[in-house]
Amino acid sequence: MITNPDIERYMSDLLPARDQVLADMETYATGNNIPIVGPAVGRFLAALAMMTKATRIFELGSAIGYSTIWFARAAGPQAEVHYSDGSPENAERARRYFERANVASSIRIHVGDALTALASTPGSFDLIFNDVDKDGYPAVLAAVPDRIRTGGLFVTDNTLWHARVLEPKEATDKAVCAFNRELFNSQKFYTTQVPIRDGVSVGIRL
Ligand SMILES: C[S@@+](CC[C@H](N)C(=O)[O-])C[C@H]1O[C@@H](n2cnc3c(N)ncnc32)[C@H](O)[C@@H]1O
Repeated sequence: MITNPDIERYMSDLLPARDQVLADMETYATGNNIPIVGPAVGRFLAALAMMTKATRIFELGSAIGYSTIWFARAAGPQAEVHYSDGSPENAERARRYFERANVASSIRIHVGDALTALASTPGSFDLIFNDVDKDGYPAVLAAVPDRIRTGGLFVTDNTLWHARVLEPKEATDKAVCAFNRELFNSQKFYTTQVPIRDGVSVGIRL
């Protein structure tokens, strides 16, 4: 945790209970060490999608599809939400959750490298969510500006990286720091950062 644990607990207690599908996913993720955004960030992502009326969303790094479901529900049944993950097992599990959550018809599943999937999907997006392996963040930042409409959002999870950004030692820590610095300096985005859970940055495409 990067914030005061009491504050974290207080914020968590305010969150409404999730439905059975999201609750099952949270339990599965905890039991199987699958790093998902969790309900506080899930709700924040959904709010961002609602605020910007996003209907075309691409998610880079989706695992079992937990954040994908938050986006799909927020964007509505006419939306197009792209799931991408390198693991076929994750994708199959996600597909079953999408069916149970009644959002399967608005989700396109891509299995393989997330940036390759983005490159092979034409058109621009209202929102791109970045949650791939952290050493891949700089490459994501190079790829996404041309794919987000003006006024659209580039949202990235784990930008405070368990506070390792304060004293970067590993290559992964340094990649997150380089990403943050470049994103905040970029003339293509107006960027802010929110310290919920592990940090989420939000860049508005200018
Ligand atoms: C942090 S988890 C995603 C969690 C998900 N966004 C959620 O909150 O429900 C990251 C996932 O991205 C996948 N991944 C990491 N780098 C990737 C890449 N370059 N291309 C495709 N998948 C990638 C990992 O296998 C992992 O399943």
